[in-house]
Amino acid sequence: MLIGIFFGTNTGNTETVVEILEKELKVNGFEVDVHDMSSASVDDMAKYDQFIIAVPTWNDGELQDDFDAVFGEFESFDFSGKKVAFVGLGDQDGYPDNFLDAIGILGKPVLKNGGSIFGYWPTDGYEFTTSAGLAENGKFFGLGIDQDNQEDQTEDRIKSWVAQIKGELGV
Ligand SMILES: Cc1cc2nc3c(=O)[nH]c(=O)nc-3n(C[C@H](O)[C@H](O)[C@H](O)COP(=O)(O)O)c2cc1C
Repeated sequence: MLIGIFFGTNTGNTETVVEILEKELKVNGFEVDVHDMSSASVDDMAKYDQFIIAVPTWNDGELQDDFDAVFGEFESFDFSGKKVAFVGLGDQDGYPDNFLDAIGILGKPVLKNGGSIFGYWPTDGYEFTTSAGLAENGKFFGLGIDQDNQEDQTEDRIKSWVAQIKGELGV
């Protein structure tokens, strides 16, 4: 199954995480295209039936710069028939009131514009106060990664999440 990954990064953490994710997806039989939002566009998402958006939260609850720059287009994109998953990066100790907000900022328009979300992720194992990254089902809109405080758990979290989404996509 072909899956696209669209990521944005300000200081490189998300790129590192996407490299681990890409490898894990390939080991599990996916064909993977990776797009850096510093050069990709929202329209590129139209090519994929399913894709993953990997985005860190910046500036107290805001999108990473490249996603921020295209948010207007993202908000009006037609997600009908698209299956979208999220990987959010954040710092739960430094920003406990806005932990992983970015995945909620992007997740809501996907649902509003006809898309479906796979890969919701439980909050067990994270300590934070509030998060706009929480969906109505009480889970994060996607996999939560904290390279600042829990880097040692990143690889295991990615492995578990890939196993989960494989099941959800019926691969
Ligand atoms: C100035 C600044 C603001 C940040 N704001 C948030 C935030 O509001 N919520 C959060 O969860 N993480 C926040 N973070 C943490 C980043 O999301 C985290 O370090 C992430 O791994 C950065 O990813 P990148 O290297 O791909 O840009 C912030 C970090 C900095 C330096």
